[in-house]
Amino acid sequence: MKLSKKLLKALNAQINLELASAYLYRAMSHDMKNLALHGYAKWLDKQYEEERQHAFKIISYVEDRDGVVDFDAVAGVGKHYGSPLDAAKDSLAHEEKMSASIRDLFRLAREEGDIETELFLQWFETEQVEEEVNARDNVAGFEKAKDCEGLLYMFDAHLGGR
Ligand SMILES: [Fe+2]
Ligand SMILES: [Fe+2]
Repeated sequence: MKLSKKLLKALNAQINLELASAYLYRAMSHDMKNLALHGYAKWLDKQYEEERQHAFKIISYVEDRDGVVDFDAVAGVGKHYGSPLDAAKDSLAHEEKMSASIRDLFRLAREEGDIETELFLQWFETEQVEEEVNARDNVAGFEKAKDCEGLLYMFDAHLGGR
């Protein structure tokens, strides 16, 4: 069965969002390096790699289903992060948006009666739960460390162990 036009369009949009996520995390990592927060920067580099893999997974799936990937322009980041708490908060908000978008995609697959895509998206549903947990933990950690250099140093080192 071929992917429906609607579903193919939505999968293309998700590929684009995953690539934009990768871009965002790499930009955050860059800003954290400039703040000498090398642990969080390393954590964000791994996140960049994960998001790239998410995009790759969907690209491969579209190819397996004989669909065409558009490779549209990826949105810019448009800001710099002056503190790790600022980056962590934005990454949590971003992951919540990504979860919503995966959920919409899942619902569309169900509407279109595309069981294979529904099953394919299950992995992403589970992954998003984990992504939100990690992002929330980072916000909590940097919140605690915001008035204490020693705690910040420790939490940054902890994130570097990812
Ligand atoms: Fe992702
Ligand atoms: Fe993510």
